[in-house]
Amino acid sequence: MVKKLRIDRRGFLKIAAFTGVVGTVAGFGYPVYKYLSPPQQETQMPRSLLVDENGNPIKASELEVNKMYLFNYPLVNTPNILINLGDENGNPVKVEPLRIPLNMEPLNEPSYIVGGQTENLAEHVPATAQLYEFPGGVGPSQSIVAYSAICQHLGCVYPQLKYVPPGQSTEFPTNPPIIGERGGVLFCRCHGSAFDPFRGAIVLSEPSLRPLPTIVLEWEQDTDNLYAVNVVGPVIFGRTCNTCGGDPVGDKVVVKKSEL
Ligand code: FES
Repeated sequence: MVKKLRIDRRGFLKIAAFTGVVGTVAGFGYPVYKYLSPPQQETQMPRSLLVDENGNPIKASELEVNKMYLFNYPLVNTPNILINLGDENGNPVKVEPLRIPLNMEPLNEPSYIVGGQTENLAEHVPATAQLYEFPGGVGPSQSIVAYSAICQHLGCVYPQLKYVPPGQSTEFPTNPPIIGERGGVLFCRCHGSAFDPFRGAIVLSEPSLRPLPTIVLEWEQDTDNLYAVNVVGPVIFGRTCNTCGGDPVGDKVVVKKSEL
């Protein structure tokens, strides 16, 4: 025979109080545990050959200028944009190496390719800012770059974050409007952040205060092949470290041409 469990009013209140305490401790305890536990360490970055959907190596000299290509790296679910950067006439543009701050005030000036000045960058860098080395472009014209396709503001992802070539306008105005009107930017239409792909994806227009992480590429001159080999800059948005808690890509990653 099944005995009925009878709880009087006092017993009920005790149970409610106990579960409340447990819930509160768990609610506060997890963030405290996360804060006190040592930061997770990056594991070794994969060295991945960029290939097409048939498994054939992507040839750097065959990448269309100002066209967006997409690939995942260093994890199977972290998307990136690959671009052979060019000017308004479709001529490849050499992308210079640059020292970039992890955090910065927006430059509020156009992309470098349409009149922005690299010299002004120092004025927007806090004295205590940590800097990293953006390696510049690779390939025959040193014009090929790759950046995380996850916005550093609140994490909107391609196609919300996309490349707008020089001479084309962003769908929404930027601050100031000239940034979006002249193009040559990586633009996030969620809240209007604009980044300069010609200067390591530094911030041109708020609200983001961090550049997009750079995917470091290597170009093998004799084969014309491209490899993804590292990530530099801020940690990819939403992750505790670039390689933590996910499945790393293998020694080949598939590159797809964007439909936009
Ligand atoms: S998520 Fe990109 S601007 Fe807000």
